[in-house]
Amino acid sequence: MRGMEHATVIVGVSGGIAAYKAVELVRLLGKLGVDVHVAMTRGATQFVTPLTFSALTKHPVEESVWHLSERGEIGHVVLGHQAKLIVIAPATATTIARLAMGLADDALTALVLASTCPVLLAPAMETNMWTAPATQKNVATLVKTGRYTVIGPESGALASGAQGMGRMSEPDLIAWHAEKALTPQDFAGVHMIVTAGPTREPLDPVRFISNRSSGKMGFAIAERAAMRGAQVTLVHGPVALDPPRGVHAVAVTSAVEMLDSLQALMKRCQVLVMAAAVADYAAQKVAKKKLKKQDLGKKPAIALTQNPDVIATIAKAKKKSTLLVGFAAETNDVEANALKKLRAKGLDLIVANDISAPGVGMDSDDNKVTIYDRRGVVLETERSPKTEIAEALLKTILDRL
Ligand code: CTP
Repeated sequence: MRGMEHATVIVGVSGGIAAYKAVELVRLLGKLGVDVHVAMTRGATQFVTPLTFSALTKHPVEESVWHLSERGEIGHVVLGHQAKLIVIAPATATTIARLAMGLADDALTALVLASTCPVLLAPAMETNMWTAPATQKNVATLVKTGRYTVIGPESGALASGAQGMGRMSEPDLIAWHAEKALTPQDFAGVHMIVTAGPTREPLDPVRFISNRSSGKMGFAIAERAAMRGAQVTLVHGPVALDPPRGVHAVAVTSAVEMLDSLQALMKRCQVLVMAAAVADYAAQKVAKKKLKKQDLGKKPAIALTQNPDVIATIAKAKKKSTLLVGFAAETNDVEANALKKLRAKGLDLIVANDISAPGVGMDSDDNKVTIYDRRGVVLETERSPKTEIAEALLKTILDRL
């Protein structure tokens, strides 16, 4: 799906207590569909057994430079040539020093020397070992080659019981960097704003008008765009989701706040994807105190006022080159309604979905959409997870940039 299936990724594990976290890292990388191989230093095998890694990867662990494969091949040379990415986690002070010197006297360092792919380095060590001039010089030497990216280390509880700098970054952060390193950065340099979730229009201090939008679609678009290298700002209403990694998130509440926030951000924006379910109406007057039953009487009514149409307002003032993408959640006459909205709001693309279909659209994990431009249908998807819908939309956007 993401073009990285079966890519050979090597996880190099060196001898530190954080080696146990490499087990989780290998599992997370496996979930990406890549072919993970593990190389361990002798020190690493003191902390975790090779059996754990070979059971997870279905490959023997590279532990020595002195062995040939069943086909008589030199393991570290063959693997080194195949590798698309090497992730060294944990990278101890010793392993970093040996890499900086270009040593190749164990399976891990030999693999690095026999390959030319990018290397991610996740250092883990005691604070003084990390700040030592020798370690810092070795790290700088590696970074200067252009081949190495250093992830962390972070500050926190260390194996010694002390608090300080030197903790290995968490496996999910390392796996995210690995996925990014394997993903074509076809959105590099593109400034994109994505809106997501509902807006919430207050009636009084405790009540509001809103809708069932979960924000999942917009969050998936923001997450995938950032993974493909875009600079993403995610302007979202109240949702129960954590902002995706690598995305600048701006939380807003009402439609007016969303519009204000977008207007301040539009200057640098090349693509606006308006996936938010903006409430069309707000209370004419927001009560300062909680509304009481006796004040509302026997036939209560709330006077509403129409919210600004956020994307139509943006469309009128935007730069000509900015691509505007809207969404249309419809229960009937999907195509006619979507095309009408596309034209009326001045959009370049509209993503329409039939929310009357079961299991898709608002608040679901899946969606099934048709993307239109001014001339008609551009793409019709099957029912798929929202991350896949997001990838399909991004491809359509990229074709137009
Ligand atoms: N939209 C917006 N501002 C609003 C209402 C909607 O920017 N006040 C945007 C939505 O984010 C979406 C597109 O316009 O990208 C279409 O939204 P939708 O709710 O389907 O359409 P409405 O214009 O609200 O029309 P209706 O409620 O009549 O279907």
